[in-house]
Amino acid sequence: MEKLFLSAFLFLGCMLIASDSKVFVPPSDKDIPGGKLGSTIKYGKELLERFPYYLGQKGSIGQYGGNGLACQSCHLKAGTVPYGLNYFSVHARYPQYRGREGKILTLSQRINNCIERPLNGTKMPLQSDEMIAMVTYIKWMGEGIPTGGRVKGDTLKDIKIPIKAADSIRGKIVYDKYCMVCHQKDGQGVMKDDAIAYKYPPVWGFASYQPGSSMHRIIKAAKFIKNNMPLGVTYKSPVLTDEEAIDVAAYINDDRIHKRPKYEFVVVEYPHIEDKPIDYHKPPYADKFSQEQHKFGPFQPIYDWRKENGQYLGY
Ligand code: HEC
Ligand code: HEC
Repeated sequence: MEKLFLSAFLFLGCMLIASDSKVFVPPSDKDIPGGKLGSTIKYGKELLERFPYYLGQKGSIGQYGGNGLACQSCHLKAGTVPYGLNYFSVHARYPQYRGREGKILTLSQRINNCIERPLNGTKMPLQSDEMIAMVTYIKWMGEGIPTGGRVKGDTLKDIKIPIKAADSIRGKIVYDKYCMVCHQKDGQGVMKDDAIAYKYPPVWGFASYQPGSSMHRIIKAAKFIKNNMPLGVTYKSPVLTDEEAIDVAAYINDDRIHKRPKYEFVVVEYPHIEDKPIDYHKPPYADKFSQEQHKFGPFQPIYDWRKENGQYLGY
């Protein structure tokens, strides 16, 4: 009896540990309901997978994207990958205050940010069928997550910030070894045969994301790269060390080496400078550190100083 009790206890204990360590599993295609709702969800998913075909420069429905990137060039596999810029809890967290605008944005407005910056394009109408479909898919994916809630795996996975600054020269060695085979020596990737979307997207240059995109921030990009690149890697089996990820993120995002498109719209970014993330490339800053240090690090002294002074610690 005692033995039985003990094994039941152990079994329950293991279940608890297992469920605690489980990352969120999004619903799959077979869970999509029927009817109008289901067809809207499917359309939203299709758009997030194949944006350039519908809404890119050669889009069949409208031209909003300004390059060949798809949402899932970054929000991998229609935003379903743990620690891969997924959409798990996104709907639950909007509307949300955004420091860059200094305003509360709805999810549709946040999507437009990604169309303007990473896709180097122009805002879509908020009430278009396409915007509604994308939001409907994202909402469906996170059904049941309470307002403001988070689930395991919905962020980028944190990495250890190295003591020394990121180094583009070391980063180039990492790039040549692990990334060049797909993203190419010139960083321009490879288009599909249809010349509309990419097989391997560009990581710098005028066809790539704008500066001011989150992927242009070195720590943010390193967190993505470490757990998702080279393609096929997951958070369970990373290939790069944290330091290699930071260095290669610095290399692809080094504006002294590589060009990027400029924003064509004039906006005041971070109207409250104290909202600016640690790794944002553009001054002014509410702390005493240089632009160079905010861009490449060492980041730890900035973090420590901000912590001591009760300032924003985001990166
Ligand atoms: C070049 C990479 C890239 C592309 C392409 C891209 N995004 Fe993003 N997106 C990001 C990054 C990086 C973030 C910031 C995530 C974070 O802060 O952790 C983000 C944030 C978002 C968010 C907010 C997520 C949150 O948790 O608050 C949404 C929604 C979003 N993107 C939708 C889209 C859609 C829709 C498209 C296509 C029209 C798109 N993105 C294209 C990189 C990209
Ligand atoms: C086997 C091919 C392959 C390798 C190797 C690879 N990538 Fe990627 N990468 C991709 C693909 C494909 C995507 C877009 C995701 C998709 O379409 O599913 C991508 C997306 C990206 C993105 C976001 C989209 C963009 O255009 O910026 C970055 C950044 C990136 N890779 C960086 C790297 C880095 C850094 C390395 C080396 C450590 C690397 N990749 C190695 C195939 C690869």
